[in-house]
Amino acid sequence: MDHNVRVLFVCLGNICRSPMAEAVMRKLVAEKGLEERIAVDSAGTGDWHIGREPHEGTRGVLDAHGITYVGMKARQVIPQDAADFHYIVCMDRKNLKDAHEMMESALGQQAAGKLFTFMELIPGRGVPDVPDPYYEGNFDYVYELVDEGCHALLDKIKADMGWS
Ligand code: 4NP
Repeated sequence: MDHNVRVLFVCLGNICRSPMAEAVMRKLVAEKGLEERIAVDSAGTGDWHIGREPHEGTRGVLDAHGITYVGMKARQVIPQDAADFHYIVCMDRKNLKDAHEMMESALGQQAAGKLFTFMELIPGRGVPDVPDPYYEGNFDYVYELVDEGCHALLDKIKADMGWS
């Protein structure tokens, strides 16, 4: 991966929230013509769904918004992700804690700053975690948060990198 910036979204199963964020972020990056500069991936802290395509609820909202998820397959977080990615964005606080533990061996003290929660991108919402639609079924609400947060993340990357 030789992109300037590499973004990893992390959730529990890597079939609902983080693949939704990956697909939405990819679409935004492509719309801005930044696909050579920003790489986007997602992973789960759990291993139950490795190799599976996104959940039908996630596929449903992505289809409704004309966003592709072709070829996306669930994988688990690995320690090497700490070195490979510059922004590791965790969908809830539990994902953050678990991802931190899973990457600890490869995550320097300084590098720990690259891990944060998705909702820190949109603090105005007053919501600490992206709720898990696997249990709650609220895929449309999750999409709303994901879309807003991905716009904020793209703005943050551009500001951090000094891209206008
Ligand atoms: P996700 O949702 O973390 O947003 O992908 C879940 C998917 C699967 C399970 C839990 C949450 N599960 O327990 O299998």
